[in-house]
Amino acid sequence: MPERIDILQELGLTPVWRLRARYRSDATPIAPHSVNEAPLAAVPQTDVETRVMRIAMLDWAHFAADVSACTACGLARTRNKAVPGVGDQHAEWLFVGEAPGAEEDAKGEPFVGQAGRLLDSMLAALGMNRSKAVYIANVLKCRPPGNRSPTPLEVEACLPYLDRQIALIQPKLIVALGKSAATTMLRVETTIASLRGRVHRYKGVPLIVTYHPAYLLRNLPDKAKAWEDLCLARATLRGILQADILQTAGRGPT
Ligand code: URA
Repeated sequence: MPERIDILQELGLTPVWRLRARYRSDATPIAPHSVNEAPLAAVPQTDVETRVMRIAMLDWAHFAADVSACTACGLARTRNKAVPGVGDQHAEWLFVGEAPGAEEDAKGEPFVGQAGRLLDSMLAALGMNRSKAVYIANVLKCRPPGNRSPTPLEVEACLPYLDRQIALIQPKLIVALGKSAATTMLRVETTIASLRGRVHRYKGVPLIVTYHPAYLLRNLPDKAKAWEDLCLARATLRGILQADILQTAGRGPT
């Protein structure tokens, strides 16, 4: 189990306030969704920080239920089903989209609409499917009404869940699907064209940017570019796996 200070540093939440009742090891565990509780008097620790820490310690057994019970932003009032993610919990590949749409909201599973069918074809072209070596998630776990763009507050509220998924899965490679997912994770405001074709990093994991399948459905000629991106992703992953093997054999770079 990582130390609390390590988690806070990883989340960029240091310097740390001195702990009182809430996080003493002998304290009663806090209930989920303390974001809605009244703050404890004289405890210099925000409910936001408490929530982020709690999510950073979730295991798979509690993850989906926690997402489904989340009320940290207004999307909880309009969603039908939260959409935590789907796939192999030890996947090498993690695909990340923007947010669930109507069909995902009805089913509770990401990328099940028309865009999802194209994503499935892209995975099949790579010899994979959504339950083999692949995990699929979104930055937002709940549908924004009318498929509007996520607000910065919604993103900040939801990102700890994606970060926890990454920590649990430990993917070798992340593929950001579309500008929204890419610019959110890379914390840049730029075009997708300027992000494609090279390897970025998110939380230390190599990340490759490609077009969102919904965009590709409207811009069929760009499918060739998306295939180039996936080939770059595959080559990058092969290089990583090769390096891992050499490292394990004691012949890799130190
Ligand atoms: N678009 C996304 O970004 N995610 C989904 O799950 C569906 C459509």
